[in-house]
Amino acid sequence: MVSNVAVFASGGGSNFENLALKSAAAGIEIQVLIADSPDAFAVKRAEKLNIPSVIVDRSAYAGKHEFEKGIREALSEFDIEYIVLAGFMRILSAEFINDFKDRIINLHPSLLPSFKGRNGIEDAFNYGVKVTGVTVHYVDAGIDTGKIIAQAAVIIEDDDTLESLEQKIHQTEYELYPEALKKVLDRRV
Ligand code: GAR
Repeated sequence: MVSNVAVFASGGGSNFENLALKSAAAGIEIQVLIADSPDAFAVKRAEKLNIPSVIVDRSAYAGKHEFEKGIREALSEFDIEYIVLAGFMRILSAEFINDFKDRIINLHPSLLPSFKGRNGIEDAFNYGVKVTGVTVHYVDAGIDTGKIIAQAAVIIEDDDTLESLEQKIHQTEYELYPEALKKVLDRRV
């Protein structure tokens, strides 16, 4: 079974590209990339991958409500079953989340519920934990609080730097996210 998804990204988009390359294994077809800034490198990746992209520029909207209206308009052009967040650095409103209830999935670079928020990798590194990881979860109205779908641990070795940890986290994300999506979309979670 293949599910039609929209991927939302704010930055580099390496997870978006990974999902695009592994879409068959993940059981998804990416209909559109939604980026919240024209500077998001993810948009360039979409061009290269021949995936439609829409920039809904957050800075062009007065507030969250208007921004989300822009997102809804963009999505209405496509047949979307799930929204897959991949480095999307905006907090969606409860209203938006409710309208896509149980159909928004996020990737977070820590073992939730530890190190929520924007800097999950750095916060874990600075805290000095010896094990961190990656979480895939449903999005609910809280910040990084939705039901957990899958997790994978990453060991922080004594000689790891923030950069080496970032690399390990990303490699783990590239494995876990497609696998977790496949599980969810086959309704096994
Ligand atoms: C990923 O590490 C993802 O887990 C993280 O942003 C990065 C995006 O990288 N997401 C969050 O921190 C969400 N709170 P990418 O743009 O190269 O895919």
